[in-house]
Amino acid sequence: MSDNKIEKLIARLKGKEKIRILFVCLGNICRSPAAEGVMRAIVESRGLEGRFEIDSAGMGGWHIGDLPDKRMRVHARRRGYELTHICRQVRSTDFDNFDLIIGMDDSNLSDLQELAPTVEAENKIVGMATFVGKAMRCDAIPDPYYEGAEGFELVLDLLEDGCANLVDLLS
Ligand code: 4NP
Repeated sequence: MSDNKIEKLIARLKGKEKIRILFVCLGNICRSPAAEGVMRAIVESRGLEGRFEIDSAGMGGWHIGDLPDKRMRVHARRRGYELTHICRQVRSTDFDNFDLIIGMDDSNLSDLQELAPTVEAENKIVGMATFVGKAMRCDAIPDPYYEGAEGFELVLDLLEDGCANLVDLLS
């Protein structure tokens, strides 16, 4: 999505009483539940709980009903985030129920574009990397599932930066 389109989308959302955000990754056990937990913490720390509805979901259905990956929970807990999301798959009604649908990497974004039922729905899809500061040289939130501890730490670094910038833009 072009910068101009994102600016317009953000400007429209700023006027809303409640902003509903869905974070999406492949499995919904590492990156997107971490994004949900980080975003909740930032929103709470700024006293903005009432303005945001936050959820996460996965493109795949392998882990439906599970808590986030143990490694993701451990790394997140060390930074003060308790991840309690129960894994679920993206559904087409999500495009009605959320204002912003944030994919973690290009593969998530193309899967979401394919699933979007209307052009209006497609226009709600945006990449998480869009919100990460330029200095972090991030073009996606990389999948940590087959990585070591550094992969999980990198995900949290990128999400903390991106979510803080997103809240700044929307509030
Ligand atoms: P996530 O990571 O998309 O960040 O939740 C993954 C979790 C599980 C799998 C792939 C990625 N998996 O293939 O089971």
